[in-house]
Amino acid sequence: MKVLIAGGAGYVGSTVASACLDAAIGVVIVDSLVTGRREFVADREFYEGDIGDGLLVDRIFAEHRDIYAVIHCAALIVVSDSVADPVGYYRANVVKSLDFVTHLLRNGCERLIFSSTAAIYRPSGDLSVDEDSPVEPSSPYGHSKAMCEAIFADIASVRSLHVLSLRYFNPIGADPKMRTGLHLRRPTHALGAMIRAHDEGAPFLITGTDYPTRDGSGIRDYIHIWDLAAAHVAALGRFDALPGPALAINLGTGQGTTVREFLDAFNRAVEYPVRAREAPRRPGDVVGAYTRIDRAKQLLGWVPQYDLHDGIRHSLQWAAIRDEILPGAARGSA
Ligand SMILES: NC(=O)c1ccc[n+]([C@@H]2O[C@H](COP(=O)([O-])OP(=O)(O)OC[C@H]3O[C@@H](n4cnc5c(N)ncnc54)[C@H](O)[C@@H]3O)[C@@H](O)[C@H]2O)c1
Repeated sequence: MKVLIAGGAGYVGSTVASACLDAAIGVVIVDSLVTGRREFVADREFYEGDIGDGLLVDRIFAEHRDIYAVIHCAALIVVSDSVADPVGYYRANVVKSLDFVTHLLRNGCERLIFSSTAAIYRPSGDLSVDEDSPVEPSSPYGHSKAMCEAIFADIASVRSLHVLSLRYFNPIGADPKMRTGLHLRRPTHALGAMIRAHDEGAPFLITGTDYPTRDGSGIRDYIHIWDLAAAHVAALGRFDALPGPALAINLGTGQGTTVREFLDAFNRAVEYPVRAREAPRRPGDVVGAYTRIDRAKQLLGWVPQYDLHDGIRHSLQWAAIRDEILPGAARGSA
C-alpha cells in the first residue's frame, strides 16, 4: 500500500509518515514547506510544491500509479493568525483544498483522509463533545476546516470519493523514536509555550482564567502525536469498511485537562518549575472541550496508548535535541 501525504513535512504529517513507514506502508509527500521542514522529508519520497498546483499533483500520480489513499494535512493552523488574516486563511485552507480535491478527482483518487480539528465544535455545557455535537467554529481557522469538511462531503455524495475527516483534539509529544516533533515558528499550544517559558526562565501565561471549568482555565484533550499517527494507520487498514461516503471521527483521549492541571503535570516532569502568570484571553481563544472516543474505538479499533505524562516527557526529549535536528532554527521559532 502507498499513500500520498499532503503537508507531510509538518508536525502531524511527518509523524503520520513515520507511522506509515513503520507499518510497511509506502509514503509520498507533497509539501510547499511554507511551515514544514525539509529535514523531516530528507529520506522520504518528496515533492516540493503547493497542493493547489495541478500539474504537480498530476505528475505525482503519473509517477506513483499505486497511490491507495491521500492524507491531507496541508494547512495553516494558528488560530490567532486566522483572526488577524481571514482572507489569507480562507485562501490557504479552503481555496487550496478545493483545488487539491479537484486535482485528486482528476487523478482517480477514491480515498481521502482529511486533518480536521476539535476547533469546529461549539462547546457543550459539560465540555465534552462527540461527532454529533453541534459544529460552530469560533475562528476563521475553525471555519476553514469545517468548510473543507462540508465541501468534501458534498463532493463525496456525487463522486466516487470516500472521505474520512479525523477531528484532532490537541496533539502533544513527539515521535517516540525522535525522528520528528514540534517545529512551529511560534508554538501557540500550551506545552510549546511552557517549554519556552522553562528554557527562558520566564513565567507561563495562563491566557483566560474566567472560563466555566473546574479551575477557570481552558480545557483541552491532549493526545499523543504517535497515537494520532497510529489512528491514521488504523484508518487506512479499515478504510473500505468504514461507513461513507463521508464520515468524521474524533481523535482524543477522552480526558479533559485544564491549563492549570497541565502546568502542574509539566512542573512534575522538570527540575525547575515554571511560574504561572494569569493573562487575558487571546483573540480566537475558546474554553475548549474533550471528546468521547467511542466512535474511534468502534470503527477504527483504536485506543490511545500514551498518556499526558508520556506526551510531556517526549516533548521535553524532543525539545532537547530539536536544534540538532533542525539546525538554523532557534528553539521555539523554527
Ligand atoms: N497541530 C495541531 O494542534 C492540530 C490540531 C488539530 C488539527 N490539526 C490539523 O492537522 C494538520 C497538520 O497540522 P500541523 O500541526 O502538522 O501543522 P504544520 O504547520 O506543522 O504542518 C502543515 C504542513 O502543511 C504544509 N502546507 C501548508 N499549506 C500548504 C500548501 N498549500 N501546499 C503544500 N503544503 C502546505 C506546511 O508546509 C506544513 O509542512 C492541519 O490541517 C491542521 O489543521 C492540527
